[in-house]
Amino acid sequence: MSKSLLITGGAGFIGSAVVRHLIHNTDYRVVNLDRLTYAGNLDSVAEVSNSSRYAFEQVDIRDRRELDRVFREHRPAGVMHLAAESHVDRSIEGPADFIDTNIVGTYTLLEASRAYWNELEGQSKADFRFHHISTDEVYGSLGETGLFTEETPYAPNSPYSASKAASDHLVRAWHHTYGLPVVTSNCSNNYGPYQFPEKLIPHMILNAMDGKPLPIYGDGSNIRDWLYVDDHVRALVRIFERGRLGENYNVGGHNERTNLEVVTTLCGLLDELVPESTHRPHDALITYVKDRPGHDQRYAIDATKIEKDLAWVPEETFETGLRKTVQWYLDNPDWVSRVRSGDYRDWIETNYGRRGTAK
Ligand code: NAD
Ligand code: DAU
Repeated sequence: MSKSLLITGGAGFIGSAVVRHLIHNTDYRVVNLDRLTYAGNLDSVAEVSNSSRYAFEQVDIRDRRELDRVFREHRPAGVMHLAAESHVDRSIEGPADFIDTNIVGTYTLLEASRAYWNELEGQSKADFRFHHISTDEVYGSLGETGLFTEETPYAPNSPYSASKAASDHLVRAWHHTYGLPVVTSNCSNNYGPYQFPEKLIPHMILNAMDGKPLPIYGDGSNIRDWLYVDDHVRALVRIFERGRLGENYNVGGHNERTNLEVVTTLCGLLDELVPESTHRPHDALITYVKDRPGHDQRYAIDATKIEKDLAWVPEETFETGLRKTVQWYLDNPDWVSRVRSGDYRDWIETNYGRRGTAK
C-alpha cells in the first residue's frame, strides 16, 4: 500500500493545491486535516475528493485527543503542516485566533506527532518527518536592498508573523530537544487559483471585474516577492522528500513588484481578457486608502539554497502566473459566487448538521 501523508490545512489556498497535486501526480494517500474556518473550502478539493487515496478529517489542530485518533487510524509516513490563521489584516483586528492556532495549535500537533513517532519502529521511524510550512514575514521588513536568507535574524512585525515565528521556534526546539525529524520552509507571497478573496490579488481581480474600487494601502510602494502557488507546491514536495532534517529552506520566485505594479498589471490583463467590460480601463478604479498599521515595506527571498541543494526552480514568471490566475477567476464564477455568498460552507451543515466551527 502507498504511504499516507497527513496534510493540515488542506482545505485552504496552498494546502488544497498540495492535496490536488499529491492526488494527481503521486501515489501517496492523502489525509486532509482541517478545522474548516472561514478560509477552509472543500470546493477547492472537490476534484480529488472521490479518489480512493483521499480522506478528510474535520479536526482542530488544538484538539490533542482527535489528533491522536487521526494518527492511530491513518498511520501517516509524515506530516505537512499548513493549517494556520494566515491573514495579516485579520491578525491586526484580532490576534487571539493567531496565538491559539498558530502557536498553541502547532505545539499540540508537535506533541501528537512526537508521541506517534516515538511509537514507530524501524524504517517507518527512520523515514518519518514533520514539515512545517512557514512564511518569509518572520524575517521582518527589508529596506531598498538586500534579500532574506536562511541566516537572516527573525524580526516579525505583525501579530501574524510573530505567531508564525513562534511556531518556527517551537518546531526547531522539538528537533533540538526531542530529536523529532523536522524541516521548515519559509516562503514569500503566493498567488494563484482558489485563493480566498481577502488577499491582495484575488481581492483586486474580483473588485475590478465588478467595477468596484481597488483599495491600495498607503502609496502602493510596498514590495512583495510573488510566487505562483503550484511552484510553491513543487518546492514543498521536494523539501518534504529531500530536505535535510533540522534545516530551513527559503522559497521565493524572484518576482519583486510594488503593490501598485501588481494591481496595474492585473488591470491591464482584465482590459485585454474582457474587452467588452464596461469597467475598462480597470486601473481607473484604483483608490489609495489608509495604510495597514506597521505595514512591512519590502520582502524579497534569496532562494539560492533550495535551488542549489534541492534543484528546485520556479516554472512560472509573474506574467505567466498572473495571466493564468486572472483567467482562472474569470473561468470559475461558481467557485467565486459560492465563496462570496458563504454557500461553500454547506458541506459542514450537510455532513455535521451544524455550522461547524464557522466564524
Ligand atoms: P489559508 O488561510 O488559505 O488556509 C488555512 C487553512 O488552515 C484553512 O483551510 C483553515 O480552515 C485551516 N485552519 C485554520 N485554523 C485551523 C485549526 N485550528 N485547525 C485545523 N485547521 C485550521 O492559508 P494559506 O494561504 O493556504 O497558507 C497556508 C500556510 O502557508 C500557512 O501556514 C501560512 O502561514 C503559510 N504561508 C502562506 C503564504 C501565502 O502567501 N498565502 C506564504 C508563505 C507561507
Ligand atoms: O509573505 C508571505 C505572506 O504573504 C504570507 O505569510 C501571508 O499568509 C499572506 O497573507 C501574505 O501576506 P501579505 O500581508 O503580504 O498579503 P496580502 O495579500 O494581505 O497583502 C499584500 C500586499 O498588498 C501588502 O503590502 C498589503 C497590500 N494590500 C492588501 C490588501 C488585501 C493592499 O494594498 N490592499 C488590499 O486590499
